[in-house]
Amino acid sequence: MIRTITRPVPLAPLAVSDAGRLLPVLPSTLSMKNPGTLSLKPLHLTSLPVFGSGSGSDKPRSLSVRRRAYEAERSEGVPVPVPESEEVRSASAQKVKIGIYFATWWALNVVFNIYNKKVLNAYPYPWLTSTLSLAAGSLMMLISWAIRIAEPPKTDPDFWKALLPVAVAHTIGHVAATVSMSKVAVSFTHIIKSGEPAFSVLVSRFLLGETFPVPVYLSLVPIIGGCALAAVTELNFNMIGFMGAMISNLAFVFRNIFSKKGMKGKSVSGMNYYACLSMLSLLILTPFAFAVEGPQMWAAGWQKALSEIGPQFIWWVAAQSVFYHLYNQVSYMSLDQISPLTFSIGNTMKRISVIVSSIIIFHTPVQPINALGAAIAILGTFLYSQAKQ
Ligand code: 3PG
Repeated sequence: MIRTITRPVPLAPLAVSDAGRLLPVLPSTLSMKNPGTLSLKPLHLTSLPVFGSGSGSDKPRSLSVRRRAYEAERSEGVPVPVPESEEVRSASAQKVKIGIYFATWWALNVVFNIYNKKVLNAYPYPWLTSTLSLAAGSLMMLISWAIRIAEPPKTDPDFWKALLPVAVAHTIGHVAATVSMSKVAVSFTHIIKSGEPAFSVLVSRFLLGETFPVPVYLSLVPIIGGCALAAVTELNFNMIGFMGAMISNLAFVFRNIFSKKGMKGKSVSGMNYYACLSMLSLLILTPFAFAVEGPQMWAAGWQKALSEIGPQFIWWVAAQSVFYHLYNQVSYMSLDQISPLTFSIGNTMKRISVIVSSIIIFHTPVQPINALGAAIAILGTFLYSQAKQ
């Protein structure tokens, strides 16, 4: 909403948000560190946009008002203290923002895992469903770029070259996790996937020669021990399911290593980076999906699933594809805002929500010793995140 103020406005009660928006600060909420240095000389403005949307034509006008106001103060040579309440407000706004990202990421992930498993139970073609997830995300992003909901990234051949190994690792990790979930309970795949930090340390140590403080190595004991306990006590253990989750862990460790190398100095946002990753992974995965499963199997299975489940099966497929993209997109967007450490804690919390919700929804039988193994593994990943600080 644009509000026009036609009377003199004092300079001090204006604040500019992180997004460059001009916000009015009511005098009663002002808390200056040193009120004595504040100049209340009125700044005469004839047209002042307040609460601009931040997009479209009103944003530059807000910025130009901000610059003029700043210059007026500078000319007096009087330092303007930053309102303490503004700092506190922006810190809590950032916390709220991260909280929203996390809650959205976990919720989208839970929904993806549930629909993914429902689809795989009725239609056990993980290579096709993995391809469809990447295709849905790629299509959504191409449309968003075309209609300018999102700004397309500026990329060059070097960007795509650096993205290629990331995409290969992402494709392997994605398809391996989906194959795993087609063979075992969702909770079991995610218990094994909570062992990812162990893979990260072992790869970094033995392939890259990195060393870590002793507590990091010690934290691997509960991670590996807990995963092993959960695996040997899993009632519906399946070797392909177990190996799929293990391969996914290894592939995602490489994805993270290649991502870090490839993204150095690049300025593509998390959302667009993930969009490009999806597109490249789709190109890599499609021929393999045709070779491993193929249209004949897909068509026969599709008819069977439709006759058993009914037309809502199509919605399940659409939901698993769309939610796969959305949860990954939000996770990459939150990576833009937080440290890798906070991210890995968030990822562990995400696994807890998926494990618990899938056990409830699919009535997965769990023995106490099996649950103990999962709890030890997850505790280990928390200890690992602390030790890595
Ligand atoms: C996938 O299909 O890519 C996996 O389910 C991803 O698992 P993660 O994002 O939870 O590691």
